[in-house]
Amino acid sequence: GKVAVLFGGTSAEREVSLKSGQAVLNALKSQGVDAYAFDTASQPLTELVNQHFDRVLIMLHGRGGEDGTLQGALQQLAIPYTGSGVLGSALSMDKVRSKWIWQALNLPTAEYQVIDKSSFNAEHCADIMVRLGGIVMVKPANEGSSIGMTKVSDAGQLSAAIEQAFQYDHQVLVERFIVGQEFTVSLLGERALPSIRMQTPRTFYDYEAKYQASSTEYFCPSGLDVETESGLAELARRAFTAVNGSGWGRIDFMQDQAGQFYLLEANTVPGMTEKSLVPMAAKQAGMSFAELTLEILATSEV
Ligand code: DAL
Ligand code: MG
Repeated sequence: GKVAVLFGGTSAEREVSLKSGQAVLNALKSQGVDAYAFDTASQPLTELVNQHFDRVLIMLHGRGGEDGTLQGALQQLAIPYTGSGVLGSALSMDKVRSKWIWQALNLPTAEYQVIDKSSFNAEHCADIMVRLGGIVMVKPANEGSSIGMTKVSDAGQLSAAIEQAFQYDHQVLVERFIVGQEFTVSLLGERALPSIRMQTPRTFYDYEAKYQASSTEYFCPSGLDVETESGLAELARRAFTAVNGSGWGRIDFMQDQAGQFYLLEANTVPGMTEKSLVPMAAKQAGMSFAELTLEILATSEV
């Protein structure tokens, strides 16, 4: 049937989505799939029905594409789509509510403070810094690709970092920074792909380290021993299931210096750019980019 690859969109991650979507579209076409670009920024969703698309592959990142609203609209239009449904998408986009669920299930996640725009009091910043160990990450609750995020190690800079995050969301997460190493696990159907370790000389794995810097190093295989790798894969699966994720996704972690892993977040439409992590993990598992896109497309069948 006819497949629409949804990409572009209007979120802060539009540029990333354009790259992910174009790569996926090219790969599908090269495999003989009757696939077309569809940018939700300029085309109304009802055009999917008018143009007789049979299903869609969602390659939109961030709000309006990855957060459940699109998934709900597609469900109303009775068009099958890839990846997580409404609830899994909405919960995964929200880092605060993801943490609440993981904590309720005793899954490990770093200590944090939630700050609402309506009640933010800069006088509390010094206390927050002390309570969270002196180094924190400030994140908009609903964003992707590290947009709006700041690492803060000086209490005097916390308030400005929080204000910066408020430009993207009315709710902000201030999280203890786990000193150690960053890992990610990609999930495809029931499978966990090999973990990747990311290392950057920058202050953290930010937007530039993710998409622009040539100094970012990726290790896949990540160097974990077999037992630790399978434990991490199991933790990724449990975390994804807990937020009702399905089909495919990617779970990001920090590992502290004692070896303990902490869940950072779930991504229900992970990047598929040249520098992105799911394609790298798939490659390590012996799967080409084209094979990976076909497997992602197949998640629209369930
Ligand atoms: N939010 C970006 C696209 C990622 O998780 O890869
Ligand atoms: Mg994310």
